[in-house]
Amino acid sequence: MERTFAIIKPNAFVAGNAGKIISRIYAEGFTIVGMKKLLLSKREAEGFYYVHKERPFFGELTDFMSSGPCIVMVLEAEGAIQKWRDLMGATNPANAAEGTLRREFGASLEANATHGSDAPETAAFEIGYFFSGLELLV
Ligand code: RTP
Ligand code: MG
Repeated sequence: MERTFAIIKPNAFVAGNAGKIISRIYAEGFTIVGMKKLLLSKREAEGFYYVHKERPFFGELTDFMSSGPCIVMVLEAEGAIQKWRDLMGATNPANAAEGTLRREFGASLEANATHGSDAPETAAFEIGYFFSGLELLV
């Protein structure tokens, strides 16, 4: 079993789509090991996305991620990291395949509804950034 870290981003939360996304997570066979709603500060969003700090979109991305509430989750499944990225679809909703979450709930490249870890090392960092071990007991 593998764990990955996921976010329902502010655009999806504010639009009232968190429930539909969570239903889909269960339907696809993930176990939700941790889950909470947060309103990130700008500084907290910058710490989370520090790998992108040199990218031109860093300021806009961290403004967006701190613009409204989001839901952070730890998802468990066989091959959870790739399985969740497949369910999310391409980064840009315009390029995301039919049936993916970003196609259905993404509004733009930035407001693309969900986040997912891209490797075991980033999953470990991202899970630890938001959750203590005690919050992940099952
Ligand atoms: P994520 O980390 O959010 O799961 O998305 P990802 O791996 O598919 O994409 P990544 O390259 O890690 O980019 C992180 C987030 O930054 C926003 N972005 N904006 N304006 C731009 O050119 C641009 N490129 C990426 C997206 O919201 C993306 O999810
Ligand atoms: Mg990424």
